[in-house]
Amino acid sequence: MNNLSVDHMLGIKYLNKNDIDLIFQTADNFKKIINQPIKKVPSLRDVTIANLFFENSTRTKLSFELAEKRLSADVINFSSASSSVKKGETLLDTVNNILAMKVDIIVMRHPNPGASVFLSRNISAKIVNAGDGTHEHPTQALLDSFSIREKYGEVAGKKIVIIGDILHSRVALSNIYCLKKLGAEVGVCGPSTLMPKYLDSLGVNHFSSLNAALKWCDVANVLRIQLERQDVQLLPSLREYSNVYGINKKVLDSLDKQITIMHPGPINRGVELTSDVADSEHSIILNQVENGVAIRMAVLYLLSIKKN
Ligand code: CP
Repeated sequence: MNNLSVDHMLGIKYLNKNDIDLIFQTADNFKKIINQPIKKVPSLRDVTIANLFFENSTRTKLSFELAEKRLSADVINFSSASSSVKKGETLLDTVNNILAMKVDIIVMRHPNPGASVFLSRNISAKIVNAGDGTHEHPTQALLDSFSIREKYGEVAGKKIVIIGDILHSRVALSNIYCLKKLGAEVGVCGPSTLMPKYLDSLGVNHFSSLNAALKWCDVANVLRIQLERQDVQLLPSLREYSNVYGINKKVLDSLDKQITIMHPGPINRGVELTSDVADSEHSIILNQVENGVAIRMAVLYLLSIKKN
């Protein structure tokens, strides 16, 4: 199999294990290339990609742009803050106007869950979901599992706990789908107010104790508390959260084993992780960022060669 089963990258939910393996094998090759002195390949020459960001981003936006440039694509960037969206233009009108400029692939981050699925049903370009509200962030989950595979050789059989704001996290949902498709055991840990009601249907272990979760896992993927998505207060305070669920060196030293620390970023240092953990030898946070470029090159390349 050298072809994806999907025409768009809308969510991990729509991928099968062969798709994920193919993306990883392709990313292995691209990672070798981008670590050579000449980092560019002509794979997407004459392909035009528009990056549409309706929400803030550092890692995802820059990583997609770099991936596109390493593949020799023509790239245009759109930020809603400085666009005619501010004058009332709809999402569909905005995208149709961009497509009139002969764009082949749309990479979009949007605050509304389902925005990418909506576009895929209404326009003819290929769509890559770069994060849609609280729904999915597929390329983040792919780069996270790729980083676990790089560290341990394989993802199957590993125990990964996702800690924090599971309710509002597209990273959590995409990671749960991806890790389970790859045969990992998945746990979640955090305050009950930040757990989704449909948790049981996801087939994950639920830990209310941080210590129990860390003793169980090989890898802890630690999330940011997304206060901007909470319309009612779901925590007494960030200080309270940090006291109960924050990971510091003392917590790690109390375990009788070494675990790997991951974080999708941005980190709220001193809340979910202290700096002596985030910057320690346990952390693969910057490896995740590095792997993001190779994973996004793989996704864009495989979508571009997929015939409808
Ligand atoms: N991990 C992630 O999505 O980070 P950004 O919001 O900076 O893109």
